[in-house]
Amino acid sequence: MSRATSPPSGAPIEHHATVESTNDLARTRGLAGAPDGTTIVADAQTAGRGRRGRSWRSPPGVNLYLSRVVRIDPARAGLVPLLGAVAAREAIDETLGGDPQVAIKWPNDLLVRGEKLAGILAEWFDGASPFGVLGIGINVNATRADLPPDVRWPATSMALVAGRRHDRQALLARLLSSLEHQRELLQSDPEGLVARVRDHCESLGRKVRVHPPSGQPFEGIAARLDPDGVLVVQTTDRQIRVVAGDVDWPGPG
Ligand code: BTN
Repeated sequence: MSRATSPPSGAPIEHHATVESTNDLARTRGLAGAPDGTTIVADAQTAGRGRRGRSWRSPPGVNLYLSRVVRIDPARAGLVPLLGAVAAREAIDETLGGDPQVAIKWPNDLLVRGEKLAGILAEWFDGASPFGVLGIGINVNATRADLPPDVRWPATSMALVAGRRHDRQALLARLLSSLEHQRELLQSDPEGLVARVRDHCESLGRKVRVHPPSGQPFEGIAARLDPDGVLVVQTTDRQIRVVAGDVDWPGPG
């Protein structure tokens, strides 16, 4: 393991060859009192986790796996995944030079031409000093063989969509810098952060299937994204504000 600090926040960054899950290690650091912005980066994960109990395939040498401790007002916990989506989208977009377009599937997947390029796992831990862990996995140089044969949602990588490999260290530097900027925005202008999501959100106007953290999935039209980051879904008889959860759209997979 090596340590460095991330300007301007000065929070520690740990680099590991292999961990079970960067989210799990970030949670351990957070529980031990690590400051906001503490970041865990790994070259590989042996038990990388996705949302809704899925695993996240994390082979060495090809992708980016990172988790960050986020200490914010618990009233804004719902914005943590959006912080990750905007930061990762901007870092990827800069690296790809804007072509092809990278879209956000609210609240936290990044898609290119309907295929999943990156996933975000945001977790919140209550207690005396509540904090969030923001986990980001980006498929950078993965080949088709490296990607999961996920029938539910097709996966892709930056190399596959751009036809060339990318420097993972340069992408990491952009991601860390963008995380700093979006973190500042979350503090100073949370509606501005949500506006950045809205600008690139592919969910809006679509028929979606919502998987709330508890309760039964339901379907409707993703009508709008409110300034507080909540997705409003129009069902046949009412509007439902979706504060947290996963959204799919009936179609691929
Ligand atoms: C998803 O799309 O289901 C979320 C995937 C999140 C994967 C990242 S990789 C870094 C961090 N550590 C984990 O164990 N998961 C997240």
